Amino acid sequence: MQSRPVEILPSVLTADYSKLGEACVGLEAGGVDRIHWDVMDGNFVPNLSFGADVIASTRPIVGLAFEAHLMVTEPTWILESMAKAGCTRITVHAEACTHLHRTLGRINELGVAAGVALNPGTPADAVADVLDLVDLVLVMTVNPGFGGQSYLASMEAKISRIRSMIDNANSAIDLEVDGGIAPSTIAAASAAGANAFVVGSAMFRDPEGFAHATTQLRALAEAAGR
Ligand code: DX5
Ligand code: ZN
Repeated sequence: MQSRPVEILPSVLTADYSKLGEACVGLEAGGVDRIHWDVMDGNFVPNLSFGADVIASTRPIVGLAFEAHLMVTEPTWILESMAKAGCTRITVHAEACTHLHRTLGRINELGVAAGVALNPGTPADAVADVLDLVDLVLVMTVNPGFGGQSYLASMEAKISRIRSMIDNANSAIDLEVDGGIAPSTIAAASAAGANAFVVGSAMFRDPEGFAHATTQLRALAEAAGR
């Protein structure tokens, strides 16, 4: 059984943007744990998505915590606006930061929880020297930029490696996975050591709605967890 709390974190990248606030309210009613905002700059990834103003526009109508997943090259310039928009967790990519240690320290100075994300091609050791600065490590199980991609099972060895690093540090750091998480893949990611699960397409495409998807995914992750 999962020893850490399982968190189901919908990515609104695949939502209908004409009804974004409505989607967030519906997700909250469906029992999710946080809203995952995929912020893309068109440089770090070949796609553009939301800025701080869009996130801030939904803040007043949603009671859930917001986390920003910054797929932004050299993201220092956007940290403060993301915090002001109401994100209480900000995750940056190790690959996007020339000075990762300093950038994570800056997020902490803003009074916001810091996260570090790793692309599929980046080894686990890239986070070894910043675990003391983060509350979460995000392992990408797709190459970032788009929703609806296929889960990379080859990332499970990295997930387990990072789980061991976190446990050896005797830390409460969350291990989050992101990309292609669905009823058919979440158990394997949980068994590998993840406890936080970003879900985009599988959340929005469930014909029985957000509550059904959230309950089903949480049960699968809890049953398979370590
Ligand atoms: C991809 C994003 C993911 C993505 C998840 O760059 O970071 O959060 O939106 O969507 P699915 O669950 O459809 O892979
Ligand atoms: Zn994401």
